[in-house]
Amino acid sequence: MALTGLFLCFFLIIHLLGNLQLMLPQEKAQLQYNIYSDFLSGNILIKIVSYVLYASILLHSIDAIYLSIKAKKATGTSYVKDKRDRASKWYARQMMFLGTIVLAFLVIHFKDFWFPYKFGALEADINGHKDLYTLVINSFQELWYVILYAIAILALGFHLLHGFFSAYRSLGLYHPTYDKIIKSIGVVFAAVMTFGYLIIPFYIYLNV
Ligand code: HEM
Repeated sequence: MALTGLFLCFFLIIHLLGNLQLMLPQEKAQLQYNIYSDFLSGNILIKIVSYVLYASILLHSIDAIYLSIKAKKATGTSYVKDKRDRASKWYARQMMFLGTIVLAFLVIHFKDFWFPYKFGALEADINGHKDLYTLVINSFQELWYVILYAIAILALGFHLLHGFFSAYRSLGLYHPTYDKIIKSIGVVFAAVMTFGYLIIPFYIYLNV
């Protein structure tokens, strides 16, 4: 769970950097984003990393279901007086729910972007590359779609807020001296990912 989670965190950084190109001046953004996407889909090493990524998403989800069933069996479901909020934050107790929102988002995300790019007949830009840029820009012209992304990205942010620190502990690296610093890195990471992914759909909706 921790290893796949940390690999997905690494992917999130790279994916964000790639998608921030969408906010460049329009003509430059279109050519650059399409060149970048073309490079990613043509490179054999990146293809292999992509398969590891798909496997990690699957493994992470299956592991989460398995662990949540195990935890339910161990603790039972009914609390006479639920005082868990004194010991943990709400998002730490809702990891399954938040993860399910992210997974549902990924199904929509793959259907709208990944599938048409890999298997659809997208028009070409002036360089002859598939025009993924225009597909993404057109999608974020609808406010409901921007809000859908905002909800999923906020869920992802809270998921990361607990997940990052939790992964560090699960890997057996816990040490009281580093506790605070790792927690702070986790908070900064979650905040940067949330803010970074959030501004893209809003920027496109309002400016492009
Ligand atoms: C503003 C936000 C985002 C934009 C504009 C965006 C855009 C895209 C596009 C255009 C693709 C298809 C092309 C490709 O395969 O690279 C893609 C793939 C993907 N996106 Fe996103 N994305 C965003 C946010 C996210 C988030 C928050 C996640 C994770 C929760 C995510 C996970 C993925 C995954 C796993 C793939 C497949 C990558 C691969 O095949 O190697 N994306 N995204």
